[in-house]
Amino acid sequence: MTAETNVLVTGGAGYIGSHAVLALLDAGKRPVVIDNLVTGFRWAIPENVTFYEGNVADADLVARIIREERIDAIMHFAGSIIVPESVENPLKYYGNNTAASRSLIESALTNGVRHFIFSSTAATYGIPESSPVREGMPTLPINPYGMSKLMTEYMLRDVAAAHDFNYCALRYFNVAGADPSARSGQSTAGATHLIKVAVEAALGKRDSVAIFGTDYATADGTGVRDYIHVSDLAAAHVIALDALLTDPASSHILNCGYGHGYSVLEVLDAVDRVTNQMLDRKIEGRRAGDPDELISDNRAIKSRFGWQPRFDNLDTIVAHALQWERKLSR
Ligand code: UFG
Repeated sequence: MTAETNVLVTGGAGYIGSHAVLALLDAGKRPVVIDNLVTGFRWAIPENVTFYEGNVADADLVARIIREERIDAIMHFAGSIIVPESVENPLKYYGNNTAASRSLIESALTNGVRHFIFSSTAATYGIPESSPVREGMPTLPINPYGMSKLMTEYMLRDVAAAHDFNYCALRYFNVAGADPSARSGQSTAGATHLIKVAVEAALGKRDSVAIFGTDYATADGTGVRDYIHVSDLAAAHVIALDALLTDPASSHILNCGYGHGYSVLEVLDAVDRVTNQMLDRKIEGRRAGDPDELISDNRAIKSRFGWQPRFDNLDTIVAHALQWERKLSR
């Protein structure tokens, strides 16, 4: 019998982390969660999963978990994720993202964990010079959030070069949707992400949806993004884990997106289609720092890992987000 793979999932009570926990369980791995429950929810962690409440920068706690749970790999989701907040309070982001990651990576090294999967972001590119954006293009973040994540990528690169350690940094594009069986979804209040905002409005939790800018250099003038279903993203983490375990000499930095985009108007039309009603739309000015278009080149993750999306359909993403939003209201 092969030994079970024990994976420490930081931020496992949060939106993407909780979907990774489900994907690990579905793949027969053993997730162990650490989360400080600042933005995550205890109920988002399945009952049969071992949970530690605490901070990833608590080196004593992390050392104890690694030892007691015989951790083989770390998936690091915990962190702060609100771009405008990072502009107002950069040190929070360099603390919760960069410094906490530094501590966690050191805990991994000190305690013999040699595989690390990191939640990175398309925000590391800033405003890309062309679209679709490839991993080799310049990384010039335009906000502290993106910079805090890029600095962690640099630490991982340097640590992998110096030690017996490999990593995969996955650069997420626009993550949306929810578990198809509604076991988890996006639950944090005060959402700013388009699809979440739109399904809240569709269920009467908001009066309308703002359209931030209609003068972008896109077909209909609204911003275009590459929306990826959270379950396809979670699956990419499990494949990355297997790749790191199979080939300990290789590390990866890979985009996670579908390679095509939708405008704000196309997203709102999809919500109207799925709900069979008309959202109230309000045209507003541009939001600071929004690029016209952000689309991934996803050839690298497909060819290297054989990753194949299962939910590359905007109406499906919206339908799953809506199903979860309904469940949340009950
Ligand atoms: N938008 C609206 N109205 C809303 C919300 C968003 O029109 O109420 C528009 C935005 O202007 C943008 C698009 O919808 O054109 C998507 O906006 P989101 O806020 O949903 O997502 P972002 O593209 O701004 O953010 C995503 C990730 C971040 C990451 C960033 C990188 O969620 O974590 O991409 O650029 F940092």
